[in-house]
Amino acid sequence: MTQKMDMIETLDALFAEVTLLPVINIEREADILPLADALAAGGITTLEITLRTPLGLSAIALLRRERPQLCIGAGTVTDAAQFAAVEQAGAHFAVTPGITEELLQLGLNSRIPLLPGIASASEILAGYRLGYRRFKVFPAHVLGGPALLKAFAGPFQDVRFCPTGGIGQQSISDYLALDNVMAVGGSWVAPKTSIAAADWAEITRLSLAATALAGQR
Ligand code: 3PG
Repeated sequence: MTQKMDMIETLDALFAEVTLLPVINIEREADILPLADALAAGGITTLEITLRTPLGLSAIALLRRERPQLCIGAGTVTDAAQFAAVEQAGAHFAVTPGITEELLQLGLNSRIPLLPGIASASEILAGYRLGYRRFKVFPAHVLGGPALLKAFAGPFQDVRFCPTGGIGQQSISDYLALDNVMAVGGSWVAPKTSIAAADWAEITRLSLAATALAGQR
């Protein structure tokens, strides 16, 4: 069985106008809506809420209910139970930091598209043989940054990537200049310290700076 074409089309539609994917860890329930609103005020329409904290799942459900205009991805999905839970919570898509056979198989039959995380050509091939054509690259910076993505364009001409890990305001343009980069992800627009200080104005400022650069693509 291969990943259905409509999964790729769904991902492409979700990212057609979107080149930034903030990666968000939620530590306090009270932060969820103001944080999303601060990002939205900076032009961010799509977020990845990770399951790295116990509040991740309920944050996805809350945002789907209270901010239906936002596109909410679920990140750091690492096993079948989490995949089922994020589908149930209403996530629009799921992101994994790496691949397992179990996760790749689940993504073939899921109601929501999966963006599997890869770090090597061999991992791309493991997904490619099942029909996957869209991947997260993690951790992008330490793996080689834009030069790695450029190298992947050789053998994988119909594949597009969302690099994350170690990306910041200073490097987004280098990634987005590449045809095989669909979007860049990362936590720099919502730093842990700003969330802890409930400094929503700073998060809007960082988001505006990022969307201004990304919009110039
Ligand atoms: C991710 O899961 O994509 C990363 O944790 C985000 O990486 P960053 O914090 O270096 O942006």
